[in-house]
Amino acid sequence: MQNIFSGIQPSGTITLGNYIGAMKQFVELQHEYNCNFCIVDQHAITIAQDPQQLRKNIRSLAALYIACGIDPEKSTLFIQSEVPAHAQAGWMLQCVAYIGELERMTQFKDKSAGKDGVSAGLLTYPPLMAADILLYSTNLVPVGEDQKQHLELTRDLAERFNKKYNDIFTIPEVRIAEVGARVMSLQDPLKKMSKSDPNNKAFISLLDEPKQIEKKIKSAVTDSEGIVKYDKENKPGVSNLLSIYSILSNRSIADIEKDYIGKGYGDFKADLAQVVIDTLEPIQTKYHELMNSSELDEILDRGAEKADRVASKMLKKMENAMGLGRKKKK
Ligand code: TYM
Repeated sequence: MQNIFSGIQPSGTITLGNYIGAMKQFVELQHEYNCNFCIVDQHAITIAQDPQQLRKNIRSLAALYIACGIDPEKSTLFIQSEVPAHAQAGWMLQCVAYIGELERMTQFKDKSAGKDGVSAGLLTYPPLMAADILLYSTNLVPVGEDQKQHLELTRDLAERFNKKYNDIFTIPEVRIAEVGARVMSLQDPLKKMSKSDPNNKAFISLLDEPKQIEKKIKSAVTDSEGIVKYDKENKPGVSNLLSIYSILSNRSIADIEKDYIGKGYGDFKADLAQVVIDTLEPIQTKYHELMNSSELDEILDRGAEKADRVASKMLKKMENAMGLGRKKKK
């Protein structure tokens, strides 16, 4: 069976963008692949985090993974910092990466532009991500479109390592969903929906109450044409809402468009709000159950143990290939 790895940062509210671009795909893929899903807390600290809040966010993300449909009996769910091989392998891959290629990453450029006191971790973030993926001999990485460049770098680092030291890494492929790879902000449909957006009307949190969801969708930016039609160039707001509608209702965009011929955005938005509420309600119920049980800690303990067994084997191979320490047996 082929291997999958993917991760989400516990750096704030988990959004509908994370769900559509990542989690929904994970749930579908877990039946066909051996999956590793990670709460990447070491990536989260590349930007300053409040320690107490970070702890809360880690647990909350773990519960959301399961509430969205990740089956911990099938998939390995774990916290990055609880498997030390990630940071160790991350360091080794930093020594394989070039500063120039890290400085060219658009996420680094966006997050560091005009800021003082940018952490070195923000620059060296992609080799840690490469370590996450390569430690598990990953074949496929399901992500949203914003992670594509990091995946290309991961492949470059793996190929460079294999050529220079020893051919130990599987070269991973990226998997980006056809629709919903880039869910846009509800307030500025030319920008990605992001959990770090200071305007909380720009995103829907997986934990938003029905009333909040209705309000946010009602105030989503569209256009003055009043026609529900997919046209990304000229109608980015409506097109984004149509994509969300289509993915969550499992209906084609063309089919949904037909329902709104002769109707305005009011009806369309009210129905979309209901589709989002119907998707999130069972997730929220399961989430609250998990947050109040001890099951979550048991799942994360088991996940870390299982991940550690796989990751430490590959770490030894990496150390042997690079000549670190003394030669290790199996
Ligand atoms: P993060 O935490 O920013 O996002 C988690 C996942 O959600 C996707 N995503 C979106 N998809 C569609 N539309 C959006 N508006 C949207 N916003 C976020 C992201 O593409 C991602 O798949 N570096 C990664 C975490 C990471 C990782 C890894 C991923 C660390 N190690 C190894 C894969 C493999 C990140 O910051 O994702």
